[in-house]
Amino acid sequence: MNIQPAILEKSMPFGRFMVFNLKSVINSSDLKNTLKTIKFNQHIIMGFGKKLMNKLGIEVKDYRQFPQLDASVDIPATHGDLFVFMRDNEPGKAAIKSLPIKALLKPFFETKLQVDGFKYLGEADGYGHDLTGYEDGTENPLGEDAVKAVVRHDGSTFVQVQQWQHDLEAFNGFSQQLKDHTIGRRLSDNEELDNAPASSHVNRADQGTFEIEADILRRSLPWANEHGEGLVFMSFCENLDRFEVQMRRMAGLTDGITDALFTFSKVLNSAYFYCPPVNPEFTLKIN
Ligand code: HEM
Repeated sequence: MNIQPAILEKSMPFGRFMVFNLKSVINSSDLKNTLKTIKFNQHIIMGFGKKLMNKLGIEVKDYRQFPQLDASVDIPATHGDLFVFMRDNEPGKAAIKSLPIKALLKPFFETKLQVDGFKYLGEADGYGHDLTGYEDGTENPLGEDAVKAVVRHDGSTFVQVQQWQHDLEAFNGFSQQLKDHTIGRRLSDNEELDNAPASSHVNRADQGTFEIEADILRRSLPWANEHGEGLVFMSFCENLDRFEVQMRRMAGLTDGITDALFTFSKVLNSAYFYCPPVNPEFTLKIN
C-alpha cells in the first residue's frame, strides 16, 4: 500500500506536531526536489496545505482549507502550508529526529507552530487518555475498517489538526456525573452512557449517526507546556466531509446544541492538509 506508512501503523507515545509556512521567495523546483529526498518510515507523517500545493502544481479535487464556521463557539481556521508529525517511543528521539527535517525545510519554510505531544495513562499497547482522564481512541476503526476510512484510491489521505486548550481547573471542579455527561462515557469503566445529554461529546461525534460514512482515524496526543494544557487532535480520513460533519455538529451548526467539550476547552488552531502517497522506495509520490 502506498500510503505514508506511519499513518496506519500503531500509535507511538510521543510526537512533535509542526506547522510551517512558506517563505515569500522560494524556488519551487528546488523545494520539490528537496521534499523528494525525505524517506518515509514509521516515524514521520507529512501533509501539504493549499499554498504549498499551488506552488508544487498539485491539484486534488477533494481538498479544501478548514472552513471558517459561523458558530457561537470560536473555531479559528488558521491553516498552514506544511504539516510534519514526528513520532517516537521517547520524547528525546522525536525531538532529535525532527532536527534534520527542520534543517532541510529551513531554506523554504518558517516554523509557525511546534507542539510536543505525549501519551497519558493507558496500557503500553492500548490507547492513551486525554488529560481529563478519559480514554481517547476507543471507537477508532480497526484493520480493514481503518483502511476504508482513511486511504484514498491512490494511497493519499487528508489529515485534520486542531489544537485544543483545556481549563483543567474548571473540569476538575465538575461533579463526577457532570464529567461523565460532558464526555458521554463513564470514567470508571469507559462504558458509553445511555442517558448522556445530547451535548455530550460522544453523542455529538457518534460516527454511526451521520447521513454519510463518518468513521475517521484519531491519533490525538495531550500537550502541556508553559502556555497551558490540552489535546492536539489529529485525525485522518479519505474525505474531509467525514470530519466536517462531526465538527459542524460539535459546533452546534446542525441543531443549536454545542459540544459540552466547549464548557472547559477551546480551539486554538485548526487546519486540513493533504498527505501525498509514497513510492515503493518510500519517497513522496509528487510529480
Ligand atoms: C478537546 C478535544 C477532544 C477531546 C478531549 C476528545 C475526547 C474524546 C473522548 C474521551 C472520546 C471517547 C472515547 C473514544 O471513542 O475515543 C472521544 C470520542 C470521539 N471523538 Fe473526540 N475529543 C476531542 C475532539 C474531537 C474532535 C474535534 C472530533 C472531530 C471533529 C472528535 C471526534 C470523535 C469521534 C468520532 C469519537 C468517537 C465517537 C463514537 O463513534 O462513539 N473529537 N473523543
